[in-house]
Amino acid sequence: MYPLICRPSVAKIFYVGYRLKEAFRVRRSDTHLALEHRSHFYAELWRDAASQLGASIEVLGNEILEIRLGQECTRVQQNATALEREITVAVAKNKPLVHRLLAKRQLRTPTYCEFTLNEIAKAAAFVESSVSKCVVKPANGGGGRGVTTGVIGTFDLIRAAASAAVYGQDLMVEQHVRGDVYRLLYFDGVLMDAVLRKPSTVVADGKSTVRELIRLENEARLNAGPNLAHALIVIDMDVRRTLASQGLTLSAVPPEGIAVTLKTVINDNSQRDNFTANHLLCKSIIEDGAAAAAAVGVRLAGIDVITSDPSVPLAESGGVILEVNTTPSYHHHYYKRDGSYPVAVQLLPFLLADGVAEQRTANGRLTAAEALGHHESVMTKLYRSA
Ligand SMILES: Nc1ncnc2c1ncn2[C@@H]1O[C@H](COP(=O)(O)OP(=O)(O)O)[C@@H](O)[C@H]1O
Ligand SMILES: [Mg+2]
Repeated sequence: MYPLICRPSVAKIFYVGYRLKEAFRVRRSDTHLALEHRSHFYAELWRDAASQLGASIEVLGNEILEIRLGQECTRVQQNATALEREITVAVAKNKPLVHRLLAKRQLRTPTYCEFTLNEIAKAAAFVESSVSKCVVKPANGGGGRGVTTGVIGTFDLIRAAASAAVYGQDLMVEQHVRGDVYRLLYFDGVLMDAVLRKPSTVVADGKSTVRELIRLENEARLNAGPNLAHALIVIDMDVRRTLASQGLTLSAVPPEGIAVTLKTVINDNSQRDNFTANHLLCKSIIEDGAAAAAAVGVRLAGIDVITSDPSVPLAESGGVILEVNTTPSYHHHYYKRDGSYPVAVQLLPFLLADGVAEQRTANGRLTAAEALGHHESVMTKLYRSA
């Protein structure tokens, strides 16, 4: 028997509130400016990659760029490229499906339960029986939107579920896995870059409330242009839960010098919170990541791993593979605290070669050996121009 509050109607009242809040947020000028920065970031990185390769670039509109090098041509739009098929994107977007595909290959994933607001009692049963805290999220979400970590008990669950439902009616609740988040970027099964992504923190000045500190952080991000972060900290349930776990609220004034963690969901962290992690990962985790990308069939895969110790296999640390992303963000590879990995520069030769392969295959004229030859010729040009 669940408390009276555990009813779909209660969750739906919260849902209406969150929906309105989101409608206001997307219209705000700072939200628009952050989106402009993101557009600028991608436009510049493709321009830079094209110029390093001696390729020309043409703006086709709607942020679609056409990049040409001799006979070779490809089109990109921010981080969307011609690499992934629509069906692969659809599979990767569905988190429960990805968990099942990975589990079939004996890869470790969090335990989870799928539900909708009408089935909130089912999710409550999961939360009640869970030995750890829980995470509630849209089943087909992205960018950390509507994800709430640290969920304990029915009241948290209802608000988190209502907040997640703003981004889709299919929801999931899963075990909150302890550890750090690592993003492993693979291309055709080869690890390109790995990033330790820590949550966003700010240092208190002893005068400002946490709400004010968040405002100042967002202001700093916008003033810094596209490079410091490609998103703003949105005050959501995850912010509230994360503050609560530190004994804080939005109106608290933390003592000067204290580092306040703003969010546990790492998607909206900044350059200051990202660190190169290739050297930290054991072979077993790198192999698991490649197997996860293969299980979903993703060519350019952003695999999220949570572990408290990246030097040992996930089974030893209790870690998991959390997510397999297609069209992964490039920002945290370019802008880390300790370096930069230029994803587009590495990728562009392959995109150009694939573009030719696709055109020729459509005409029935390209053999596999020819396609490989194109890959190699573009790579040679790249190294010559480097
Ligand atoms: N089960 C979990 N345990 C711990 N943290 C989680 C869990 N699920 C999500 N998170 C946090 O929330 C972030 C976003 O969740 P994720 O499932 O990757 O959704 P999205 O597709 O929106 O990025 C993760 O990168 C991580 O920081
Ligand atoms: Mg994610």
